[in-house]
Amino acid sequence: ERILMVEQILSEFRLNKEELKEVMKRMQREMDRGLRLETHEEASVKMLPTYVCSTPEGSEVGDFLALDLGGTNFRVMLVKVGEDEERGFKVETKNQMYSIPEDAMTGTAEMLFDYIAECMSDFLDKHHIKHKKLPLGFTFSFPVRHEDLDKGILLNWTKGFKASGAEGNNVVGLLRDAIKRRGDFEMDVVAMVNDTVATMISCYYEDRSCEVGMIVGTGCNACYMEEMRTVELVEGEEGRMCVNTEWGAFGDNGELEEFRLEYDRVVDESSINPGHQLYEKLISGKYMGEVVRLVLMKLVNEDLLFNGEGSELLKTRGSFETRFVSQVESDSGDRKQIYNILSSLGVLPSELDCDIVRLVCESVSTRSAHVCGAGLAGVINLMRERRNEEEMKITVGVDGSVYKLHPSFRDRFHAAVRELTPHCQITFIQSEEGSGRGAALISAVACKMASC
Ligand code: BG6
Ligand code: GLC
Repeated sequence: ERILMVEQILSEFRLNKEELKEVMKRMQREMDRGLRLETHEEASVKMLPTYVCSTPEGSEVGDFLALDLGGTNFRVMLVKVGEDEERGFKVETKNQMYSIPEDAMTGTAEMLFDYIAECMSDFLDKHHIKHKKLPLGFTFSFPVRHEDLDKGILLNWTKGFKASGAEGNNVVGLLRDAIKRRGDFEMDVVAMVNDTVATMISCYYEDRSCEVGMIVGTGCNACYMEEMRTVELVEGEEGRMCVNTEWGAFGDNGELEEFRLEYDRVVDESSINPGHQLYEKLISGKYMGEVVRLVLMKLVNEDLLFNGEGSELLKTRGSFETRFVSQVESDSGDRKQIYNILSSLGVLPSELDCDIVRLVCESVSTRSAHVCGAGLAGVINLMRERRNEEEMKITVGVDGSVYKLHPSFRDRFHAAVRELTPHCQITFIQSEEGSGRGAALISAVACKMASC
């Protein structure tokens, strides 16, 4: 009986096909508004041109440095782009992870970029390449309004970053200034790309049909190749340009109101950017664990879980980490893993409690997969419309901790996308070290064109 009441509460997380279709249609409407000059300003989905175009083959070979900022980890990488007889290129990477201290994330932009330059300096020392002026590709995973491949202003921070003095400024300029302030090495910043774009490009070199990139990790976003003639923010009619949708902000104009639950409202209100990134907050890893925690607390308060008593830890914001959602759902059935997680949070669960916690995790992560699937279906159906193809074959390159580490997100997500995209044959590929390779490959192509 208890379980029935729990299921009743959890049923709110289920969206049926019609509802998912509605989400998809609204997403498409916003995408369309984002692309058009007259509605771009007010659209929630910004559809940012990236200046990454469908260009002729061929790239420079040699060493590139790549930076990856905006996911779980900050990384510096050395990427060797070489010739390969079969595929025309080859890449090898060396990389190092650095953690970003809290005060660098939330202090000033100067502090953040000084820290980045410091890590670069450390990396160059370690690999004995400090004397070289290498071309650099910068994966910067935030909304950027580009003026060119290597120039663009940060529109707003997302995902818990908030270093002051960066919004509204040219990000590449901030990086160049920090490198200059140090003065112990030189770098030639040739490209800045979003992580979705880097992911798409890295997969493109394995599969030439890869024209979509998506991230489901700390944040959630997608990019795709759009016809130039419909990218009204950039002049030119020929070919295609990659558009960074920044779909995480979908819902910020109220488009998701009837799908957002009380838990989502609490998550949003206690975040550092209330009212923003509402679609992302339904999906991504930065928020998923907290949604679960709020549902658990609701069940405790209704006397449906843990004998009506939660621990201090469980009452603390952020204590139920998103990786616990994956771990709970990976439990083999003996409830050991679930028991361990819950006892580390200070509660002593019964078997039924463990089962209920698992149901909560499944409900939240399934909604995430389905709602995210509706968004991607929107992108893919739009592409098929543009291309006027009876049957469209398309490959999507994907990265991010939720997609990669959650035991069933991927299957539920694929199923939702396929259900909503008739006449499309979709292949998903997981990118490995996508951001490093992608940023380096784009830089290599840019260098070839500019012959730097
Ligand atoms: C990484 C990419 O593998 O995935 C990053 O290199 C990207 O560029 C990240 O931002 C996204 O996943 P998460 O889970 O780290 O946010
Ligand atoms: C956030 C960022 C976006 C990024 C995504 C995935 O939504 O705004 O630029 O691509 O997270 O990291």
